[in-house]
Amino acid sequence: MTNVVIVGGQWGDEGKAKVIDLLSEKADVVIRYQGGCNAGHTVVTGDQTYKFHLIPSGILYPGKICIIGNGTVINPQVLLGEIEGLKEKGIDASNLCISPLAHVTLPYHIALDELSEEFLQSSKIGTTKRGIGPTYVDKIGRTGIRIEDLYEQEALESKLDIILPQKNVILKHYGKKTFEKQEIIDFCGKYSQKLKPYVKDTTEIIYNALKNGKEILFEGAQGAMLDIDHGTYPYVTSSNPIAAGASTGSGVGFTNIQKAIGVFKAYVTRVGEGPFLTELNGLEGEKIQQVGKEFGTTTGRKRRCGWFDAVVTRYSAMVNGLTGIALTKIDVFDNFDEIKICTAYKDSRDGKIYENYPTNTHVHKYLEPVYEVMPGWNKDISGIREFGELPENAREFIRKIESVSGIPIEIISVGPRREQTIIRELPVLTDISS
Ligand code: GDP
Ligand code: IMO
Ligand code: MG
Repeated sequence: MTNVVIVGGQWGDEGKAKVIDLLSEKADVVIRYQGGCNAGHTVVTGDQTYKFHLIPSGILYPGKICIIGNGTVINPQVLLGEIEGLKEKGIDASNLCISPLAHVTLPYHIALDELSEEFLQSSKIGTTKRGIGPTYVDKIGRTGIRIEDLYEQEALESKLDIILPQKNVILKHYGKKTFEKQEIIDFCGKYSQKLKPYVKDTTEIIYNALKNGKEILFEGAQGAMLDIDHGTYPYVTSSNPIAAGASTGSGVGFTNIQKAIGVFKAYVTRVGEGPFLTELNGLEGEKIQQVGKEFGTTTGRKRRCGWFDAVVTRYSAMVNGLTGIALTKIDVFDNFDEIKICTAYKDSRDGKIYENYPTNTHVHKYLEPVYEVMPGWNKDISGIREFGELPENAREFIRKIESVSGIPIEIISVGPRREQTIIRELPVLTDISS
């Protein structure tokens, strides 16, 4: 039995969903453990493209138990839309289980997210405006509405009697639309009954799965550099995407999780504001953006692009306890004469070299990336399925990333489709090669 966390190693959108989908075939249970519909997870199979915001990316394999864990925040409207979208495509979502302990994103959370961004002006975070931050604020502030509250009308109403006036004071002060209690009750009522069949005691379901030796995949959203504690604060999301979040976000003790696979793009992207030392603002960045089709899955925003950053990778490996890497989108470099890897940062004031990520981002404005330049391979590798068949320069690039990050690359993705994958010797789940 091996239980594995799949975690974003960078600033999100690394291709986590592709890896989850691929590995789900051999898993029994897939658990989304944090975040909400800020996530956009793309799975491409045959001629279908699926975009998941809340539903675990293992849902496409029949019979897998897919859990939305207690650590997530759920917009019921978005979740129901996703379930219905799957039904229209003939995908059965009856194995979906929603934790009653997950928090609910309500319309006032979205309004407050928008207001906060407006208020911050040039210091804005660049959030997805999906109400994620304000939902987690309420969770930590102990004024949140949980999924289980949707089924206790009296308790829900008395909670709203306390919460809503507070929200309305702020919204009114800034000239924004306020919310009537009935409006929120109606919103909840519209979705709660339809979601009810999926709301189950996930703690017990997971406990039984563990007891019976089932294999669990934990699906991270966002990425380590967006982690509320370990990321580029304040330009982060409001949850813990790091591997340890899988434990709190699902109620599985850390002793039951054996591996953490970090998903990394062969370059780096970021959506929204915040430090990004290897960002390319010129033609090279545009080329990566266009070839990699780097547009946000949730908001459609252009993703900022830059070279692979080994300093970030080493930091991410530390805070996630990575046992392996899944390297994606290496095919995007098929027509590049040279490719760069940042191995360290140099302080422009005194020449000091940083090999470890400086978490004090105030210093970042003085830092410049130190690059190692690698030759490209100028060949289409999207059809290759064996490591040994990759062009030598592509293998060299992969080995370089492995040596500068100190973590084995177990999976190499050469295209968006399931089958466009090279699985190297090291197994991820116990029976991946069976
Ligand atoms: P996630 O949020 O980490 O699941 O990633 P997204 O779905 O937001 O973005 C990753 C994008 O890259 C999606 O459009 C995927 O279909 C695509 N993708 C994943 N792996 C590869 C790959 O190896 N090569 C290429 N070209 N595209 C990929
Ligand atoms: P997946 O799971 C990339 C970013 C936003 C913003 C910051 C805070 O698809 O990798 P939020 O709405 O969470 O309060 O925004 O986090 N962000 C993501 N960036 N991929 C994601 O998810 C993201 N989810 C949030 O762009 O910078
Ligand atoms: Mg995404």
